[in-house]
Amino acid sequence: MKKIAVMTSGGDAPGMNAAIRAVVRYAVNNDMKVLGIRRGYAGLLDEDFIEMDFASVGGIMEKGGTILRSSRCPEFVRKETRAEAAKILVKHGVEGLVVIGGEGSLHGAMFLEEEQKVPVVGIPGTIDNDIALTDMSIGVDTCLNTVVDAIQKLKDTASSHERAFIVEVMGRSSGYIATVSGLVTGAEAIVIPEIPVNYEALGNKILRERERGKINCIVVVAEGAASAYTVARHLEHRIGYETRITILGHIQRGGSPTAFDRLLASRMGVAAVEFLKRGTSYVMTSLQGGKIVPAKLDEVLKQKKSLNMELVELTSLLS
Ligand code: F6P
Repeated sequence: MKKIAVMTSGGDAPGMNAAIRAVVRYAVNNDMKVLGIRRGYAGLLDEDFIEMDFASVGGIMEKGGTILRSSRCPEFVRKETRAEAAKILVKHGVEGLVVIGGEGSLHGAMFLEEEQKVPVVGIPGTIDNDIALTDMSIGVDTCLNTVVDAIQKLKDTASSHERAFIVEVMGRSSGYIATVSGLVTGAEAIVIPEIPVNYEALGNKILRERERGKINCIVVVAEGAASAYTVARHLEHRIGYETRITILGHIQRGGSPTAFDRLLASRMGVAAVEFLKRGTSYVMTSLQGGKIVPAKLDEVLKQKKSLNMELVELTSLLS
């Protein structure tokens, strides 16, 4: 393979730059040319390209966001649009494509190969940790550290003022971010889409804690379960705490990636190029039991990653 292209697509995630760097440097070291596609699939259709060499990715590993920028491209659900994209790639001599992104972006990549025969390798990049067949996606660890740091700060104020904080975190339809951040900050409760919420039981639990002398209360709510406002409305009159709401929002997506995310991204970036070089495509780089292995894209995308319920049990056991 003489020339590959790389893009980041969908919501940005910390570590995407480290993945771009690894793709470009490993490809260049293997005598391949690399075309950077700006703004994801939208940029591909606009031919918004940049030639990338070894030096072009210097000093980017520690940066949040993505130097290639990103976008959501609803037009890419159309087969004709994907055919147009494939023609553009052929015109530019691209023989393989690396797509770094979440579920929607990986779907686009899967169809590009299935219908248009463009060899693709996906790299899971999303804070949500909702992609099946990989233990972790790039960005999850950094996001968790950001959320934990924020909740720790809120706990200070919660204790000083004897308040309850209802903290809403991202995750689309997954409760992973809420569960893990709730577990490791000792939150009183989590509200996640995987388990229907019982406000009466939740309120009673918080009341019991209060009666035992607890002076603060943190409830972490996954955006896919309910809004923090709804949860606050249900709890306020039951728990005897003055209540405040914090929606963490997009601060969860930014920031310098943790060592874990830089390492994962570097390993996955190298693996993606290695797969293409060996003729293995229609796969996603996947972290399984500490190893990076290829997982077939259709297998990845036909299933929903389920939340490890042991984590949920631990949260309620320890709080
Ligand atoms: O998939 C990442 C994510 O941050 C989700 O957690 C969230 O629901 C969504 O993207 C927000 O998307 P946008 O940045 O387009 O508002």
